[in-house]
Amino acid sequence: MADKHVILTADRPTGKLHIGHYIGSLRNRVKLQNSGDYQTFIMIADMQALTDNARDPEKIRRSLIEVALDYLAVGIDPEKSTILVQSQIPALNELTMHYMNIVSVSRLERNPTVKTEIRQKSFGQSVPAGFLMYPVSQTADITAFKADTVPVGDDQEPMMEQAREIVRSFNHIYNKEVLVEPYGVFPPKGEGRLPGLDGNAKMSKSLNNAIYLADDPDTMQKKVMSMYTDPNHIHVEDPGQIEGNTVFTYLDAFDPDKAKVAELKAQYQRGGLGDVKIKRYLNEVLQAEFEPIRQRRAEFAKDPDHVLQILKAGSEKANQVADQTLQEVRDAIGINYFKNL
Ligand code: TRP
Repeated sequence: MADKHVILTADRPTGKLHIGHYIGSLRNRVKLQNSGDYQTFIMIADMQALTDNARDPEKIRRSLIEVALDYLAVGIDPEKSTILVQSQIPALNELTMHYMNIVSVSRLERNPTVKTEIRQKSFGQSVPAGFLMYPVSQTADITAFKADTVPVGDDQEPMMEQAREIVRSFNHIYNKEVLVEPYGVFPPKGEGRLPGLDGNAKMSKSLNNAIYLADDPDTMQKKVMSMYTDPNHIHVEDPGQIEGNTVFTYLDAFDPDKAKVAELKAQYQRGGLGDVKIKRYLNEVLQAEFEPIRQRRAEFAKDPDHVLQILKAGSEKANQVADQTLQEVRDAIGINYFKNL
């Protein structure tokens, strides 16, 4: 049998994960993991998180365990997936150094996602060098494991393109097919992004419009009841709008009973279905989906050392793979001077 496809994917630990992450990627990762068709590596990208948080390492440290708990809670299974911590894999740093020599500064400055982030983060004239080159370090993350499949959000396409360029340059310059070209796997159109509670296109901590996987039932309910709907739907009997109505976007994403959702939509559009009622229904749907996740999270949270053990074991396993790739890279470049001594 041919070698299995390899998945590498990651999150920056800058806070707890929310149900937007769940829709955008976590749910799909669990499915891919359970398909048995892939060798799966899931990385907590603490080094990448530090590229714009060097002065607040405590935030990253705290978030590391939160993200690990979120992974375990949604069903990422350390028996099936290797969960690793980026900073604990030294080979990634050397790979990054080698790749930095075959990518130009102007190419890095042209990366559209990095450009947008630089604007959003208001670095001004003080863009950290590490931030500008994080796509290179991300290429190291991916290639160290010879991943060919990278499930990510749409905003990561420029990273994938840059990674493929680096891989091709490397293999070409050193005249050897050492590195594997990776391809992003993106959520189906229209399904990848859950809007925030306020109807903003993006759910995020900074916009304060997120439901977290760790939220307790009360908090979740309060957030659902505060959600943005159709601002012109004032009286129960008024006809309401479905388009851009966050409650229905969430029902589409979460309610397995599609027929019921279709019926509710029709009723809402005709008039006669109140916002409070439809929000209560959404709340039930969400509570049912997230109760088992919440319980698993609470169970793992009781024993943080056990969680750290899982990360340690995963990182050790990952080091074996990454070290092997680094050897091949050194061989290709010819900096293996002492190999035969
Ligand atoms: N940049 C990714 C994000 O912000 C996180 C990440 C780091 C990543 N290294 C990676 C994603 C490698 C995929 C592969 O979501």
